[in-house]
Amino acid sequence: MTGAMKWWQKTTAYEIYVRSFYDSNGDGTGDLNGITEKLDYLKELGAGALWLTPCYRSPQADNGYDIADYYEIDEIFGTMADMERLIREARKRDIRIVMDLVFNHTSDRNPWFIESSSSRDNPKSDWYIWRDAKPDGSAPTNWRGIFGGSAWTWCEARQQYYLHTFLKEQPDLNWENPDMRNALYDAASFWVEKGVGGFRMDAVTYIKKPEFRDGTPDYGDGMCAIHNMTANTEGILDFLHEFKDRVQKGKDIFTVGEANGVSAADLPLWVGDKGVFDMVFEFGHVVIDLKDETNWAERRNWTLKELKHLISESQKNTAESGWYPVFFENHDQPRCVSHYFPPDADRNKTGKLIGTLMYTLRGTPFIYQGQELGMQNVSWDDIDDYNDISTRNHYDFLIDEGYTADQAMEAVHHFSRDSARTPMQWTAEKNAGFTEGIPWLRINDDYPECNAASQSRDSSSVLSWYRKMSDLRNTHHVLIDGSYQEIMNDSDMIFAFVRKNAAHEAVVLLNFSGQTVSYDEVIVEGMDLLISSSDHVPGKLQPYEAAVFEHQT
Ligand code: GLC
Repeated sequence: MTGAMKWWQKTTAYEIYVRSFYDSNGDGTGDLNGITEKLDYLKELGAGALWLTPCYRSPQADNGYDIADYYEIDEIFGTMADMERLIREARKRDIRIVMDLVFNHTSDRNPWFIESSSSRDNPKSDWYIWRDAKPDGSAPTNWRGIFGGSAWTWCEARQQYYLHTFLKEQPDLNWENPDMRNALYDAASFWVEKGVGGFRMDAVTYIKKPEFRDGTPDYGDGMCAIHNMTANTEGILDFLHEFKDRVQKGKDIFTVGEANGVSAADLPLWVGDKGVFDMVFEFGHVVIDLKDETNWAERRNWTLKELKHLISESQKNTAESGWYPVFFENHDQPRCVSHYFPPDADRNKTGKLIGTLMYTLRGTPFIYQGQELGMQNVSWDDIDDYNDISTRNHYDFLIDEGYTADQAMEAVHHFSRDSARTPMQWTAEKNAGFTEGIPWLRINDDYPECNAASQSRDSSSVLSWYRKMSDLRNTHHVLIDGSYQEIMNDSDMIFAFVRKNAAHEAVVLLNFSGQTVSYDEVIVEGMDLLISSSDHVPGKLQPYEAAVFEHQT
């Protein structure tokens, strides 16, 4: 059955935050040669696609998401020859490299922007979003950028403002300009020619801009969140169909869009044969604990039923057409063992629980580096210990909004992007074996207990579990091509579902609670237990136990 499926549906993807993965030259920053050195580790985990966060030339205002040249590798990560070697060495192991395309904006140091900002009548004057001030000289709209502050910055040379959804160092491109779009498609095609296996499309829901008008204020200072004004604007799909035609058509590559603002109900327009991407990352299940995504201090209590519903809706909306990228972590999100479970929960158990969910839902699992070790959030005392610009800006925003310093730090401990960005923990040795030099970001203090070397030797570790789950998915194809049906929908402790193809049926039971919970054995009658993360007792699930059953139909 899986014969008709594409390679990227059958494989596992793994996201690498390049600067934190492995440093091969002792300068404290991870690099491309470091990834090449670790390819066998990744192969053993079953990874067939490696999504690399941006490693193009960049001033690194947002750690590479501010690109100065789409055709060059930044020297902190290596050279183009290193990249070519990585692509080649990966290919030998049947692994494809996936590039992060940041096409909503560039760096303000990109020559395109330097030219565009130099005057109102240069050839690239219309490649970015320029607007006149309001009559009183203030910004054209009251939009607040995603990383804080006005989304508009004044340019002396043009006597106009430019728009930036993120930092002022990340000016937004003007997709209405066909020359600009062609330049982006050429850059993407350059990487296809180099042999990459696909693209992750950064912040892609913001590329189409709506009418420029003030929004209803979301904050005390009269500003409104730009996301609420610009995400998923009507007409965006026309641009993306053009991208698909120009870059992807006839090529054996896949695309996955970062689709903040696209709901499960929108999926049929976004993915599949008629859609624009092969998969999109939606964020409902990772922002489930926030009342308002733009304010980390306002957390809400969530229930397992809500989480199950969100995931099941996405499964349903990609059942007929399209495909789902299963993820619980990325470089912008908290560590999942800290995110979804109480602080005292045993992360050996909860790490395996989420790992099982990831490998058994219908879709391509996307592991984020360190997730396979059960890495957890950091809680540093001082905001100055944090590197991430959005964390620092968010802290200032919370203080401005009247939260106390303790409240603001608590929010940072829960949601800072640095928790996902601390260096990968390879060994119990100095600097967790990540670098011989001084690491660019502080390493999580727990590395003596939580590292790849010790977990490789321990058959009961989270890492060993991920390896087993990857093998299980490869050998039990129902976990790849079977349909998905949620069962026990009313349970607020157990997440349970059935996967079914013509030959087999599998049942997955996941106890999300810290208590022993009973289930009705009828649902697994006549089935074999394939794997369990505890000593399985029929009819019961131990705290945080994950169990998978299967039989022939
Ligand atoms: C995306 C990236 C994030 C980056 C932002 C701006 O959300 O995942 O890391 O800061 O876009 O490019």
